[in-house]
Amino acid sequence: MKILVMNGPNLNLLGVREPAIYGVKTLPDIEAMLRRRAKELGTQIDFFQSNHEGELVERLHRAMLEDVDGVVFNAAAYTHTSVALLDAIKATKLKVVEVHLSNVHAREEFRHRSLIAPACVGQIAGFGPLSYLLALEALVSPSFMNSQ
Ligand code: DQA
Repeated sequence: MKILVMNGPNLNLLGVREPAIYGVKTLPDIEAMLRRRAKELGTQIDFFQSNHEGELVERLHRAMLEDVDGVVFNAAAYTHTSVALLDAIKATKLKVVEVHLSNVHAREEFRHRSLIAPACVGQIAGFGPLSYLLALEALVSPSFMNSQ
């Protein structure tokens, strides 16, 4: 299996960025945790972070050509604004799990709405770095894959 983990704008600053909300773990820390778990599962895993909407769109296009089985995607602020990412997820037909470190539904109202959610297979929010791990577990779980 091939899983891609994608992170959107400002997530390269994890660890220093609003630690009371996003915690003290850096993006490399989170990626190392996911790499360890993927190794245990015998799953291939790749990582991509960009602060640019178009680069995230293009990475999804490439993922389709690479036959990626599932995408763990924290689109960060673009979650709430990006029709282009919604369309890219629909166009590529990738199985995307939307993740957030924080519980977006308990925060400002503009974070309650996700434009990408309708094209995703599910959403995991509020568990800090564990949100990513739970999304990985869901995507590789045979009961999920067999139901698709
Ligand atoms: C976030 C939540 C978004 O609202 C915010 O813009 C982010 C991070 C999260 O992981 O909690 O950048 O996606």
